[in-house]
Amino acid sequence: MGGAVARAAVDGQVTSHVATPSHRTPAVSLSAASVTFGRGTAAVPALVSTTLDIAEGEFVALVGPSGCGKSTILKLIAGLVKPTTGAVIVGGREVAARALRIGMAFQNPTMLPWLTIERNIMLPLKIVEPYRSQYSAKRKGEFRDKAHALLAQVGLEGFAASYPWQLSGGMLQRANLCRALIHEPRLLLLDEPFGALDQFTHEELWGIMQDLWTLHRPTVLLVTHDLREAGFLASRICVMSPRPGRIVDDSPVTFARPRTIADTFEPGFIALNQRLRELIVNMRGIAGPEAPTP
Ligand SMILES: Nc1ncnc2c1ncn2[C@@H]1O[C@H](COP(=O)(O)OP(=O)(O)OP(=O)(O)O)[C@@H](O)[C@H]1O
Ligand SMILES: [Mg+2]
Repeated sequence: MGGAVARAAVDGQVTSHVATPSHRTPAVSLSAASVTFGRGTAAVPALVSTTLDIAEGEFVALVGPSGCGKSTILKLIAGLVKPTTGAVIVGGREVAARALRIGMAFQNPTMLPWLTIERNIMLPLKIVEPYRSQYSAKRKGEFRDKAHALLAQVGLEGFAASYPWQLSGGMLQRANLCRALIHEPRLLLLDEPFGALDQFTHEELWGIMQDLWTLHRPTVLLVTHDLREAGFLASRICVMSPRPGRIVDDSPVTFARPRTIADTFEPGFIALNQRLRELIVNMRGIAGPEAPTP
């Protein structure tokens, strides 16, 4: 995508660089941020000092072996975990300093079973400002229209009144994306949102995700184990080393959009996949027997 920032450094060392307009504030900025869980002998270093800038509207995929700190990075950005050292800046301000308008989606869609899909999707509007204070009977119809428009965009029109337990896993993942987008977040954090589904449903959801991103253009940070998924969706891929994690490779993905599933079988795409796979496999090799398996 045009004008994307791509600047990542580990321990102050820039691993890759794509030209970017320097006057723009990054949407997300990790500045020498590290995370160690626990203290003393129980301390678990999850993330070593990491510097990462993500530009407004970029779609970044974060890949790496299990336990390397991918979810920890998402939690840092969401303000759910505090950096042990360094700083995390979102939208130009330190994360802890204000309530953030962030959309999140996880591997297991956590819909409330006693609410209809429509009500589940509208839930963030009851919680996140400025919608929370506007959630009156007067605006409820407008919010409902928003929910229905999103459901239509993911092919779930007609399911607003259904309950979560009446939907298939793939349908729930789509509804999950709608809920992550309902409050028009400028930043979307996706932690393996298409996991535990069959390959065809995966591919269908990638197309839907690509369409949603093109339409709403939020900044996205997607954690995934699936290199094809990363190549299909992302405008940039960051590869992490085993725990304690650090970003060891940061590359732009320049395939034309909209991308199709057929594109993922083209030589250029396969070459990208192989390069990323080799990086991850080689790191596992040097990480020793303690390295968790992906
Ligand atoms: N709250 C916590 N307390 C202690 N250790 C933690 C905590 N959260 C994460 N960790 C540890 O930090 C490391 C990184 O965890 P994280 O969840 O970020 O990994 P991940 O890359 O998302 O892995 P996966 O791909 O399996 O989801 C792991 O070794 C994990 O055990
Ligand atoms: Mg994780």
